[in-house]
Amino acid sequence: MKSKVSHQNFTLLVCFTVTLLTTALFSMGTAVAGNPFDGRPLYYKYCFDCHESSGSTYMLNAPDFKKREGLMVTDQQLLAIIKNGKGIMPGYQGILKDEQILDVITYIRNIF
Ligand code: HEC
Repeated sequence: MKSKVSHQNFTLLVCFTVTLLTTALFSMGTAVAGNPFDGRPLYYKYCFDCHESSGSTYMLNAPDFKKREGLMVTDQQLLAIIKNGKGIMPGYQGILKDEQILDVITYIRNIF
């Protein structure tokens, strides 16, 4: 009888832990990762002129996204760079919302 109770407790503990981990992972995903399907039209409107549909460009200093250039940093770091601008790249603060920039970042990370 005693062992049955502890087995139930163990099962409950496992269920609780799984639920907790799933919730944590899910909320992490929604907090950080953008939606590439929303990012695509934004990329073509705001970034395509310089970064092109291939993600690599002849433009001076511009990174080649196909070689992961400029992308080996966290989403939060890229968000700050894109908001503030870099070199001749304009800043997008006030033009795009943070969520929209994260959508574009997710698009770039996945498409090239
Ligand atoms: C006017 C042209 C231009 C436009 C428009 C533009 N970029 Fe850039 N981008 C550049 C150039 C040039 C660089 C290289 C900057 C440097 O290192 O001097 C760059 C760099 C980057 C980098 C790498 C940053 C790093 O730290 O190396 C990312 C990521 C990026 N752009 C994303 C975007 C996104 C997303 C958009 C649209 C929202 C965009 N760019 C719009 C020209 C542009």
